[in-house]
Order: sequence, then structure tokens, then C-alpha cells
Amino acid sequence: MRKRNKIALIGAGQIGGTLALLCGLRNLGDVVLFDIMDGTAKGKALDLSHLSPVFSLDFNVSGTGDIKDIKDADVCIVTSGVPRKPGMSRDDLVKTNADVIRSVAKGIKENAPNSFVVVITNPLDAMAYLMQKETGFPKEKVVGMAGVLDTARYQAFLADAIGVSVDCVNAFVLGGHGDDMVPVRSYTTVQGIPVTEFLSDEKLDEIEKRVRGAGAEVVNLLKTGSAFYSPAASAIDMVESYLFNQRKIRPCAVYCNGEYGVKGIYLGVPVMISGKGVEKIIEIPLSSAEKDALAASAGRVQELISIL
Ligand code: NAI
Ligand code: 2OP
Repeated sequence: MRKRNKIALIGAGQIGGTLALLCGLRNLGDVVLFDIMDGTAKGKALDLSHLSPVFSLDFNVSGTGDIKDIKDADVCIVTSGVPRKPGMSRDDLVKTNADVIRSVAKGIKENAPNSFVVVITNPLDAMAYLMQKETGFPKEKVVGMAGVLDTARYQAFLADAIGVSVDCVNAFVLGGHGDDMVPVRSYTTVQGIPVTEFLSDEKLDEIEKRVRGAGAEVVNLLKTGSAFYSPAASAIDMVESYLFNQRKIRPCAVYCNGEYGVKGIYLGVPVMISGKGVEKIIEIPLSSAEKDALAASAGRVQELISIL
């Protein structure tokens, strides 16, 4: 008999809870929410189980404080850690969240050794790197989510400024998930038409600055945590490409082995996600300014990894 998909959500906080909801709504399989605050995991799971009858969802969801319950998960999405507070940079989080990643990586390795792991915890590129190191999983099975979100923010701001549907805007934000991320203007189009036909360079500079600061913009408004709806949706987009072998091309943080001149670290680059995981990195020619910006961003990620 074909097994149902099992999705383990490591961390049942703001993003974890939203992920569980989206897994149910998108019919991805059964969900286990794991958190050291086991009451949070169990309470959210119980609440979500009461949503199933309302929407007739075929969705089993449970909460746990015992990592063994993630046994044989097909996918693990990792949000465990501490989110950014106002005034705090993503990098301030590195030491605290590295300990959390080490502990959950052990649990994933022991209980879900064949899973596809999507890391969301910040600082993203360094935490994805650490997850792969600690689990020892094949590099194509450990990926970081940031580029999909940063790109979605870029698309949303562009669509708004141009006055078109977000559906028409195709874009890429590459590099590390930090203030030096790289919106790639040269590949940004509106229904195939270069974005520069619609907006001036000054306006694009302004929008790209806002993209780089969008995470902080949300943090400063919320005051109690960081964005969670769009990060959860972005990870689900990647997971669907894996579970259904969709072969979507998305900007994701993956292990680079010389691609884009980057070696030995995780960095946001365009990849194809298939049923194998990260099937391949897509190398595209960049302008010299974009190459320099990507190299600077990679340098920053390298510094964080050195702290580990
Ligand atoms: P949250 O604080 O609501 O949830 C985090 C959960 O992790 C908490 O429930 C906490 O109890 C749990 N946790 C802490 N240590 C744990 C451990 N050792 N084992 C299991 N669970 C543990 O935070 P939220 O808003 O869900 O954000 C999660 C992470 O995602 C943060 O690091 C945040 O900075 C990051 N983030 C990343 C984004 C990206 O684009 N990659 C976007 C937005 C947030
Ligand atoms: C974000 O970009 C804080 O990394 C988080 O929303």
C-alpha cells in the first residue's frame, strides 16, 4: 500500500503553526508538529484537527514534545529557534539558533534519515549549512528557504508600483538572506518585458532597498516577532515541488561547489527542485555589478559560518 506523505514541522511557533495549516489546506499529507514547548505543539495540532471537518480536509495532525514522533517523515521543515526582535539583526541570532539546529539535526538524523529538509531558521544560510553538516545528509536533501520569500516581496512591490497583477512579474533575489541580498534586475520581467521598460532606475533602486529591508519592516510593525504567513507559504511552495516532482526553478539556499564562484557554503542561487531534492543549480550570466554584489553577500555568509 502506498504510504501517505508525512511532514514533520520542527518548531510549532508562528511559522510552524501556519505551515501546518497550509499543509492541511493544500492536501500535502499528515503533519507532526514538534516543539520543546510541547503544549504549544499539541494545542495547535488539536485546534487544527478541529478545522478538518469544517473544510472536509483529509489531514491527520498531531503535536509532540518527543522527537521520536517524527519517525520516517518524508519532509522536515525547520523553524525551531528564536525569531528576530526589533533592533536585532539576523546575525545576532547565530549563536543561539546554532545550538537549537544542532539539537534538532540529531533528532532528524536519527528519526527521519531519508527526509528532505527545508531550513527556515535564521540566520538562514548559516543554519542550512549547519543542518547539512550535522545531519550528514546528501547536500541535495538539505535546503534553505529565503530566496522564494525575498523574491515574492520583490514581486509584490514591483506589481504594486507598476499596477499589474503579481502573476505577471517574474524575478529573482539571490545571495544570502541578509541586508546584502541581491535582487537581480537584469532577469526581472513583466510578462517577459524587461522591468526597466516600466520603472526608472531610481524607482527600482528604491524598491530593491525596500526588499532588502522588508523582513525588518515587518518586525518593526509587529514588535513581537517576524513575518510568518509569507515565509510559511514560501517553504510550502518548495516542498510541493519536491513531493510532486514538479521541477520548479526557485531561488533557494543550497550548497555551492564552485557555482557562481562560490565554494563550500550555502547561498541563495536558482535551483531546480524535483523529487530528488535539489536536482541542479542553474547558472545564469550576471552583470558585473550583480556578480560583485553576490560575491559580497557570499563573503558575509562565510563570516557567519566562520562563527560556527
Ligand atoms: P517562533 O518563536 O514563533 O517559533 C519558534 C519555535 O521554536 C518556538 O515555538 C520555540 O519553542 C521553538 N523552539 C526553540 N528551541 C527549540 C528546540 N530546541 N526544539 C524544538 N523547538 C524549539 O518563531 P517564528 O516566527 O516561527 O520564526 C522561526 C524562525 O524562522 C526564526 O529563526 C526566524 O528568524 C526565522 N525566519 C526566517 C525567515 C526566512 O526567510 N528564512 C523568514 C521569517 C522568519
Ligand atoms: C524575514 O525576512 C525575519 O528573516 C525574516 O522576514
